[in-house]
Amino acid sequence: MENHRLSRPLPKGHQRIRLLIKTPRAMMQAAQAIAQVLPAGISIGLSGELGAGKTTFVKGFAAACSIPHDAVTSPTFTLINEYKGTVPIFHADLYRIGSDDELFRTGIYDLDMRQGFLLVEWPEKFKSLANYLDLFLVFSIKKDGRLLTITGNREIMNRLKTVKLEKR
Ligand SMILES: Nc1ncnc2c1ncn2[C@@H]1O[C@H](COP(=O)(O)OP(=O)(O)OP(=O)(O)O)[C@@H](O)[C@H]1O
Ligand SMILES: [Mg+2]
Repeated sequence: MENHRLSRPLPKGHQRIRLLIKTPRAMMQAAQAIAQVLPAGISIGLSGELGAGKTTFVKGFAAACSIPHDAVTSPTFTLINEYKGTVPIFHADLYRIGSDDELFRTGIYDLDMRQGFLLVEWPEKFKSLANYLDLFLVFSIKKDGRLLTITGNREIMNRLKTVKLEKR
């Protein structure tokens, strides 16, 4: 699977944590807790096979910004959704994007992210996007839940370490 390209090898100065998340509810809780310790302006890549829990994570993340769960829908056709919460959240799904040109035309590089967050599903489809992301989440389906692997630079990972997350 292409996913591994964004998570391995570990770039210099980056750190990684792994969490086993047993239920959709626990996924939303973890996402909400993570959102609460991140500074605005962060872009997050969400990789993993179909149904791995990427959109579920976005629902929890958005809840931390007072966005209701049902406002978060898979932007498969709209390509980028904007949810107006206490801060704006941009939610992109690149599953159907076929080329770098098409990606550029979505406007993903023009978003005013200073006060908000960008969460991108299927970032691994575009190598050019990796430099634009601050935090990489890889979701994988296990028989007892979802394994979530989080990679980012030391500063961001130190923030995440302040969150009480059940480690694997
Ligand atoms: N531990 C878990 N964490 C998250 N989702 C889970 C978990 N266990 C089961 N699920 C289920 O797996 C599905 C995840 O769907 P979701 O839409 O979040 O995946 P996705 O990665 O966004 O898929 P897609 O690539 O199609 O957009 C949901 O039906 C959810 O209820
Ligand atoms: Mg999804």
